[in-house]
Amino acid sequence: MKAIVVKEAGNIEDFTEKEVDKPKVNADEVLIEVHAVSINPVDSAIRKGRMRFKLESPMILGTDISGVISEVGENVTDFSIGDEVFTSYKINRGGGLAEFVSIPEKYVVKKPENVSFEESSALGIAALTAYQLVNKESYEVKAGETVFVQGGSGGVGSYTVQFAKQNGAHVIATTSRNEELLESLGVDQVVNYKEEDVPTAYANKADMLIDTVGQGTETLPVVVEGGRALTPAAPIAEDKAAERNITIDRIVYEINTDQLKKFIDQVAHGELKVAIDQVYPFTQDGVQKAYELSESGHAAGKIAIKVK
Ligand SMILES: NC(=O)c1ccc[n+]([C@@H]2O[C@H](COP(=O)([O-])OP(=O)(O)OC[C@H]3O[C@@H](n4cnc5c(N)ncnc54)[C@H](OP(=O)(O)O)[C@@H]3O)[C@@H](O)[C@H]2O)c1
Repeated sequence: MKAIVVKEAGNIEDFTEKEVDKPKVNADEVLIEVHAVSINPVDSAIRKGRMRFKLESPMILGTDISGVISEVGENVTDFSIGDEVFTSYKINRGGGLAEFVSIPEKYVVKKPENVSFEESSALGIAALTAYQLVNKESYEVKAGETVFVQGGSGGVGSYTVQFAKQNGAHVIATTSRNEELLESLGVDQVVNYKEEDVPTAYANKADMLIDTVGQGTETLPVVVEGGRALTPAAPIAEDKAAERNITIDRIVYEINTDQLKKFIDQVAHGELKVAIDQVYPFTQDGVQKAYELSESGHAAGKIAIKVK
């Protein structure tokens, strides 16, 4: 089968097209004919060799995948050949930038016909992280609160602002160039961080900061004394938070198929929007362009590759 691979840890130019063996299907797995795969910053970190683990060479990146089931293992009970599905599988497995991938059935979720393969592939890590930020125990966003989302128009940010709105918050969110996207996602106040000095202009405006950029320490002044701040990116400095009695934490997302089911249902019913900046073709050039946009740090929402 065709795959777009990187042989060793390397740069965007190192992606090449390669014929590799079709994956085998274990008893509890399904084989998915991949239709779309979306990109996350962690894929770049894996490709660059910056994670504690390495994918087998040649590396096939991509864990947020959608497609059609083409084979089922002998113990599989919930899926049949022809089912349209999506998944967000373990980041240390990869496999998405290929024509076929095998995934344990417990990580696979059916998708309705009115949600596209590209949209369902773009939920995964970004939507899970956003939901787990907004609903983290002791940090839950509550109705009537003001939440400041640093990096509202990125992959994680575009879902975070929507889940915070679902919880009834007043949402302020930053962007440098995707104001219209944030308005379309229901953000109450859009802030262009290039035009304003955010920590000063928005000092003490929020009950909670959700920083998706890795600038939580610099942005902490937006939180009221005794408030809270969360990030999935670089940790917020404990001493700065303690000065104003702000509770802080950094989360690592968890795979949760029940949450993925909830998201796909919301997308199908128009209650959750999937912001996709670009869909690229499944070619060496398409994959390289997709990663260039992702690594620019300025995509409007998610980036997907149309594999089939
Ligand atoms: N710990 C975990 O489990 C976990 C899970 C998922 C993601 N993450 C991390 O979370 C971060 C966000 O992921 P993502 O998928 O949302 O990335 P992304 O789609 O690339 O989003 C980048 C966001 O950062 C903003 N940004 C870029 N440069 C900025 C700057 N100089 N100042 C302020 N904002 C800036 C962008 O806004 P504009 O384009 O509008 O400027 C955009 O909103 C990444 O570091 C990722 O590794 C961690």
